[in-house]
Amino acid sequence: MHATLCDMITDLVQNSIEARATEITLEIKENDSNLNVVIADNGKGMDAETLQKARDPFFTDGIKHRHRKVGLGLPFLFQTAEMTEGTASIESEEGVGTTVTFQFDPNHLDLPEFGNLTTAAVTLMTYGYEGNLILKHQIGEKEYSISREELSDALGDLNDTESLLLLRQFIQGNEDELREV
Ligand SMILES: Nc1ncnc2c1ncn2[C@@H]1O[C@H](COP(=O)(O)OP(=O)(O)OP(=O)(O)O)[C@@H](O)[C@H]1O
Ligand SMILES: [Mg+2]
Repeated sequence: MHATLCDMITDLVQNSIEARATEITLEIKENDSNLNVVIADNGKGMDAETLQKARDPFFTDGIKHRHRKVGLGLPFLFQTAEMTEGTASIESEEGVGTTVTFQFDPNHLDLPEFGNLTTAAVTLMTYGYEGNLILKHQIGEKEYSISREELSDALGDLNDTESLLLLRQFIQGNEDELREV
């Protein structure tokens, strides 16, 4: 299986959830020459040492055979940025939150496939945690914004079978509208 950018985004938002954020914003802006993504959370943040390691996932302290984890999230992000001449950065403050930002050239030949944002959004909106997630997606001049809080107010338990179906249709409908000419 080839990991897509949406798999990577899912993993990065899961980091925010794992950091016990109560407010997460995922903003995706696309045009012909740029793919710009910002994931901001008010989770536990990182101290200087953790942030240093997170920024440099292939950092090694020189100890042989040291366990080195290759995850899907940050390592994949930095590797993709390097391979495609894009940019990626993490800003974080302990106790305040974390912001991950990246900018890729959507036409770069080495860029992984974008993947399915509807599936990623449904996964993230139905992930079991207390907190709000706001998704904003902009393509050219068009955009939509949805919030987990508003969706739960409208649909009740997002994990029940009927809500799941409506949620998927709603997000897919918004995605389709973005691409209408
Ligand atoms: N949004 C965030 N808030 C706080 N800490 C974070 C955040 N994102 C990453 N980190 C820190 O950086 C570390 C590395 O993140 P990364 O996603 O690469 O691996 P992981 O989450 O530990 O493992 P995996 O993603 O494979 O489950 C995390 O363990 C965490 O300490
Ligand atoms: Mg992770």
